[in-house]
Amino acid sequence: RQPIIAIDGPAGAGKSTVARQVATELGLVYLDSGAMYRAITWLVLQKGIAIDDECAIAELANQCKIQLIPSEDLQSPVRVWINDIDVTQAIRSIEVTSNVSAIAAQNAVRQALVEQQHSWGKKGGLVAEGRDIGTHVFPDAELKIFLTASVSERARRRQQDFNKQGQPEVSLEQLERDIAERDWKDSTRKVSPLQKAADAIEVKTDGLNVSEVTAQIVNHYQQ
Ligand code: CDP
Repeated sequence: RQPIIAIDGPAGAGKSTVARQVATELGLVYLDSGAMYRAITWLVLQKGIAIDDECAIAELANQCKIQLIPSEDLQSPVRVWINDIDVTQAIRSIEVTSNVSAIAAQNAVRQALVEQQHSWGKKGGLVAEGRDIGTHVFPDAELKIFLTASVSERARRRQQDFNKQGQPEVSLEQLERDIAERDWKDSTRKVSPLQKAADAIEVKTDGLNVSEVTAQIVNHYQQ
């Protein structure tokens, strides 16, 4: 089997940028599982389905088609499509971000999306990032990284992302509150909570740039 590298961690730890870079360096495919949960959340909101209507959401999760289309250029985002609609930008909205944890906590949603993630794993080597990749999705991954950073550092990075994406300015205090709230929701939910796998290596990224973190992970992989 081709190698699988699992990168888990809380919001804003830099998983996406780093995971993509590691995938490029090692010639593996990059899988952003969070984008899948965001896409489903976008669809639920767009259809006006109530967040707690688990039956309707389960049906949607089982029927929808999600595509993640990589781009060679690391500066431009991976394109995300759901049911043939390009939602690359839309899934980063504040509305999606504030509802995604509630939808990702639903068992049927996780089952449907984990099945899709497994099918990616069957096709070849992966750098997969998320919350439960090392603990639930690919528990036998060759390398597991748990990426963290302090809440203030993560809020600062989120603010930079928003600026780059041309999103409205949000204060650091607000971002810190949102991040802390999402951490809490993601780590206290019943199904596959955000958790460091027993055999994961923790990498604290405060004060490190993307290439330094990438180098550490590639190093761990090559050891
Ligand atoms: O990029 P950011 O750290 O903001 O989060 P994300 O990776 O886009 O994930 C968004 C949300 O999806 C998380 O807050 C989780 O609620 C959920 N998620 C999950 O439950 N399991 C995963 N494997 C990935 C994301």
